[in-house]
Amino acid sequence: MLPEYQTTIQVAKSAGQILRQYYQKPHSVSFKDVIDIVTEIDYQSESLIYKLLKQEYPNYGFLGEETGEVSGSEKSLWIVDPLDGTTNYAKGYPLFAVSIALEKNGEIVIGVVYNPLTDEMFAAEKGLGATLNGQPIHVSETAQLGKSFLASGFPYDVWSSPLNNLYEWEQFLQKTISVRCDGSASLDLCHVASGCFDGYWEYSLEAWDMAAGALIVEEAGGRISLISGTPFSPYRKNILATNRFLHEAMLEVLNLQVNEKGESR
Ligand code: IPD
Ligand code: CA
Ligand code: CA
Repeated sequence: MLPEYQTTIQVAKSAGQILRQYYQKPHSVSFKDVIDIVTEIDYQSESLIYKLLKQEYPNYGFLGEETGEVSGSEKSLWIVDPLDGTTNYAKGYPLFAVSIALEKNGEIVIGVVYNPLTDEMFAAEKGLGATLNGQPIHVSETAQLGKSFLASGFPYDVWSSPLNNLYEWEQFLQKTISVRCDGSASLDLCHVASGCFDGYWEYSLEAWDMAAGALIVEEAGGRISLISGTPFSPYRKNILATNRFLHEAMLEVLNLQVNEKGESR
């Protein structure tokens, strides 16, 4: 086990305590963009995470949603979303998480996603499997798209971007049991890892939304790629995560429009 593993878990718990403590209290909400909000708790959570990780690993780099990138002298980088699901949090909808990943030499080696309301700690270490509160978790075995239960989300520029995900939603709604929009990418990925969802796709994401959850899915036996089908990178803005049995079928649907119109994403 990597020495950073326990620290990552402890830090995610500490940040989660802040989220829990101030949940459903009045917040100062500001807008980063038309519908992209941020609260004072996003900043508080991230500054605690930054302080705790820097204390233990002063030479590691840090990439956080609210701080941006702070380079370090070692080839190790923390990738942090201090509150994934800010809109849910601000509106009192109980689905949000703290997400922390550790990248070493360009590879994600630790991923931790903590849901503070349910006290669920999803965690994975490269090559060692994925766990929920210490117990191994596995993806589902659903092999038919028509029997599948999926998740996705909409980008913050859904009002204006042609890449608004509406076509893909329409396609999957008519080919599956149902599709959910839960508003927390990291938890969506963990719910694929634990077998609730059979697959999840989304555009316009950032490394802090996906890095930890993607490792958790892979370590739970799932498959991840970009929506084009090419190898996943947390820096490439989109993801398809499945229980692996549905990967090809979902790729086909996701690339229908691309293939029909000869467009590339
Ligand atoms: C958002 C959530 C949401 C996804 C957005 C993300 P935030 O993160 O993960 O589910 O649809 O694209 O930006 O802003 O709540 O940290
Ligand atoms: Ca996020
Ligand atoms: Ca966030």
